[in-house]
Amino acid sequence: MKRPGWSCVGAALIMFAAAAPAQAAPSMQTSVTIRADRPGAAINKYVYGQFSEMLGTGIYGGIYVGEDSRIPNTRGLRNDVIAALKDLKVPLVRWPGGCFADYYHWRDGIGPKDKRGVQINGWGDVTDNNAFGTHEFFDFVEQIGADAYINANVGTGTPKEAADWLEYMTGTQDTTLVKERKANGRDAPFKVAVFAMGNETWGCGGNMRPEYYADLYNRFATFMRTPQRPGPVLLASGDRSGSATDFTTVLMANRRAPMDAISMHYYTILGPQWPDKDTATGFSEAGWINTLASTLKMDGYIKKHDAIMTAAERKAAASPEGPKKKVALYIDEWGTWYKPEPGSNPGFLVQQNTIRDAIVAAANLNIFHKYADRVQMTSIAQTINVLQAMILTDGPKMVLTPTYHVYHMYRPFQDATSLPVSIKTATYKYGKWSVPQVSVSAARTKDGAIVIGLANLDPHRSAPVSAAIAGLDGGQVTGELLTADAMDAHNTFDNPEAVHLVAFDGAALKGNRLAVKLPPMSVVVLQIR
Ligand code: AHR
Repeated sequence: MKRPGWSCVGAALIMFAAAAPAQAAPSMQTSVTIRADRPGAAINKYVYGQFSEMLGTGIYGGIYVGEDSRIPNTRGLRNDVIAALKDLKVPLVRWPGGCFADYYHWRDGIGPKDKRGVQINGWGDVTDNNAFGTHEFFDFVEQIGADAYINANVGTGTPKEAADWLEYMTGTQDTTLVKERKANGRDAPFKVAVFAMGNETWGCGGNMRPEYYADLYNRFATFMRTPQRPGPVLLASGDRSGSATDFTTVLMANRRAPMDAISMHYYTILGPQWPDKDTATGFSEAGWINTLASTLKMDGYIKKHDAIMTAAERKAAASPEGPKKKVALYIDEWGTWYKPEPGSNPGFLVQQNTIRDAIVAAANLNIFHKYADRVQMTSIAQTINVLQAMILTDGPKMVLTPTYHVYHMYRPFQDATSLPVSIKTATYKYGKWSVPQVSVSAARTKDGAIVIGLANLDPHRSAPVSAAIAGLDGGQVTGELLTADAMDAHNTFDNPEAVHLVAFDGAALKGNRLAVKLPPMSVVVLQIR
């Protein structure tokens, strides 16, 4: 769109023609203020992390097909998936679980493949021959250019097993474990960015009380030694969903061993009970808005955990022992969880991914940016073929999901500096639900651009947005758009481009005033230079 007297609005990327959704009358104007003159905390690139569990076809088939596969691969890792994830600039991958982590014994996954352990994987009751182990995981993250988040086994493991694994991966001196790693083909140490002690210890990780786990955490963390500098972030396993806070509270009050971060998990389900799940496609408008209302609870949950952590840090600072380091909050499992696709193994957690998931992703990323000083890592569940995936595969076929496209659009936010944002927006209502129509976040990239992420949650009405950007005086605005013409629009192997990115020409900039018209059910990322 071009307006008389307004600077040119360019479109940076040539993509494909956008689908034109049927539009009702636009709703009330949304007013946004962006404080480019008051930069906030850096958005840690690990906020864009991924979770890849040994679950269903998340690894086997989705990432690893073996060297003898007819699917083009490099040392067993499928080339199409590697290229797509490399392009996404995935900064960090969490592995091997999830619940699986507390069954996993790393020694089963090293050495000659024909001598590796074979077990039943509880996710779907299938056998796992451990062809994908520590060396294959690091080959994977190194091929896509990501860092590694290793989740150690507390539930059925010991501090010695975890400490040995860390030494095997990161050791530099000629110890027995390091010699073994070298004999298995890797001379240089692997880099472990995050090392977690247990997973969901309130549930699948051991059904523990927070007090018991806090003691176990301290015991495990005490013995994790590594010559790697900086050492990995030592991560404690935290609360079950944002609404529970007992693990955060108890862990914060009982930090004896180094604890750099505490995790929190929150999945978007229809709720209020855990079994209440929607279908991934073919849902009603009630399912659309209910899912969005459910996902927006993330904001309040982070706020609550942040407040508990801040209070504990203040108390520690005032104690005779003096201040302790600020602890980060890691949202290392989040995303939509629907009913499994009909005909799939229910334990494999396979689900389609629609424009609704794209909006869920954008709304959550906008929330994470707001709490950049506390939320320093997240990993969406999960990368391939499981829950809210980036990529779906079927044998040699691969398709990128709407969620992948959102992560692609949001790449400029990685390591950018968050900018405070205030918003006054219309309400989108349906049935008993109501949600704010527009979600927004903004940041300053390292090369000086202002990047703005916007989502219109209303599936019917476009959203006119007027933004005042304090500290800006003109520039060129470019953008990308993701939208669709149906609430459950999605990509399939037969129609992989049904939901795709297009250049966006619906923004105009004059001085420090930005005018944007967001189509219904859309995600837009703008850059101003
Ligand atoms: O992501 C699937 C599972 O959900 C994980 O294994 C577990 O940690 C969570 O309950």
